[in-house]
Formats: sequence, structure tokens, C-alpha cells
Amino acid sequence: MTRAPEPIRWHDGRLDLLDQTQLPERVLFERQTSLDSIFSAIRSLKVRGAPAIGIAAAYGLVVAMQPYRHTDGDAFMHALLAAARRLRNARPTAVNLGWAVDRIVAAAQPDGNGAIRYERMKATAEAIHAQDRRMCRAIGRAGQNLITSGCGVLTHCNAGALAVSELGTATAPMYLAHEAGVAFRVFAGETRPLLQGSRLTAWELMQAGLDVTLICDAMVAHVMAKGAIDLVLVGTDRVARNGDVVNKIGTSGIAILARHFGIPFYVACPSPTFDPATPTGASVVIEERGADEVRSVLGHPTAPAGVKVRNPAFDVTPHELVSGFVTDAGLLAPPFDQSLLALAAS
Ligand code: MRU
Repeated sequence: MTRAPEPIRWHDGRLDLLDQTQLPERVLFERQTSLDSIFSAIRSLKVRGAPAIGIAAAYGLVVAMQPYRHTDGDAFMHALLAAARRLRNARPTAVNLGWAVDRIVAAAQPDGNGAIRYERMKATAEAIHAQDRRMCRAIGRAGQNLITSGCGVLTHCNAGALAVSELGTATAPMYLAHEAGVAFRVFAGETRPLLQGSRLTAWELMQAGLDVTLICDAMVAHVMAKGAIDLVLVGTDRVARNGDVVNKIGTSGIAILARHFGIPFYVACPSPTFDPATPTGASVVIEERGADEVRSVLGHPTAPAGVKVRNPAFDVTPHELVSGFVTDAGLLAPPFDQSLLALAAS
């Protein structure tokens, strides 16, 4: 099966990120050589998707610390803590960013000069990436049987290989079902304002030979009413302790519609995305992005200049609307405040 290119390339201290703002027109990798470039790649969504942001930040800190390899332990830690603080704030909503940054800082912490601390950070970043690959495959296996012959699966935004590694999260069961010869259709919501569904999900699924149909976000209710959707499968940026799901703006509307039409609504969630420290979705900071993303489509104005705009990048789906979580620890059913503990333990 052909796959979309992996968004993060790492080779012996060299970090290249696929510029996802250019897709699907151009496949362009950009070498990252400084904290500034990594920060702006995350903020501007050149690299995006919760797990990918975490992996990029982990490697990014390693790259940013390369000039400090010859310093003593104190100077190294001083520079690392400043870099970590900055990168943590690149985007506020996905838990994976802070999680990865904390793991890298913890790896550097114990003792040693700059060179020793640097090597531990590098090994940890590589371990985070390898763990991510394993989790995607485990999510795929856990969710594969949800997809049956002839069914229609709706997904939103991009929780695919471009947002993670290899199989993606929400797409992992789709890739494995496809490999197993199950014939099914995927509906990809285009995901305004930045069109991750049309530019990224439709592109990567088509490359892999899946049967994908693109719809505008406003078409979901109609397509569901026509009986084309049997399952909703989305990713997530953060799952609160009670099972509330924070994901791309528009997800909660889809969940409400799925409940109305009696369609199961599943969320693919790798263990680092579960955040037991956050009690409910209400306490998550929802990123508000710039007004021009809504006033225009890919740089072309589509609204009166200066019109007032809201642009929340994520929303909260109440846990009552979630049928189950597809995780690397298996399929989790309600009550989620109990079952999600399996993830924290994994
Ligand atoms: O703003 P984005 O493109 O980073 O938003 C991405 C999403 O909302 C994804 O669904 C989520 O991060 C899960 S990716 C496995």
C-alpha cells in the first residue's frame, strides 16, 4: 500500500518537517535548525496534529540544544528550560506538546555535562517517536473490527499519518481494514477554516487507495440522514479525566448529529492524549486563531474586510456523546472515568 510521506524525518540529529500548509499541491520538507523555526512551524501548522506536534517538539528541543552540547550541566539546563518554556506555548490545546516537552526535560535533568544530557534527550525523542508508531498500530488493531464490509465511516480534520506517524490514529483502523480487504467508504469533512479534511485526509487516504468522498462540513446532517454513515471515527487533542473530548472545531456538532441519527461515535486516543490532570473539557484552553483564517480561504478573501470573526480551533464533545475510545490499550467503553484509567496505567 502506498502511503503519504511521514511528516517528521529524523536522521542522526537532522530534523526535516513536511510543510503541511503546502499540501496537497506541493510535498515540501523544510530542515529545522533553530528553536525559532520549530516554534513557528508548530504555530503556523506546518506540522500539526496532536501527536506530531509532540514528536516535533521533542526533536526540536534536541536540535535547539545542539549548540550547547559543549557546555557544563548548569548552562545546558538553563538554556533547555528556557527553550522548553517557549515551545510549550506554541499551541495551547493539545496535551501531547507539554507531555513531550516534559519528557525531554526530565531525560536531561538527572546529571552530567551538556554532551551527556544531550544524548539522553536524543534517545528519549527517538523513543517517543517509536512509541507513537507502536501506539498507532495498536489503535488500528483495537478499532479494525468496527469497520465492516459496506459501511460508511465519517472522519473530521486529519488524525491520519500526517498528524502522527505511519498509520495515524483515527485512520489506523481504516488502513488495517483496507489491508484486510474490507470494502468500505470514508467520508472526509473538509474542516473549515484550514481544510485539514480536504487538503490532508482526502489526500492521504486516496494515496493509500481507500475509497474516500469529500463533503463540506455543512453536509454532515444530510449525508447522515441519507443513511450513508454507519460510524464516526475522529482523533483528539486531549481527553479529560471524565472522558470529555477536545478535538478540531466541528467535532461536537458531528457528535450531536451522530446521537440524533443513532450512529456510533468513536474517538481514537493514544495514551499520551489522555490527560487525567484535566477534570473536564471545560478546563481546557481552546486555541483562538487569527481572524484572517475565517475571512479568507487559503489566502483569498471571502468576506468583507474587517468583519468581526470568531475562530476557535477546537471544541469539546461531552463524554455522554462518545460511544467508545479506540486506544492502544484496547476499546474502552463507558463509564469513561473508570475505563480511561487503563490508559493512564498503560
Ligand atoms: O489544528 P490541527 O490541525 O493541529 O488539529 C488537529 C486535530 O484536531 C486532530 O484531530 C487531533 O490533533 C488528533 S491527531 C491524531
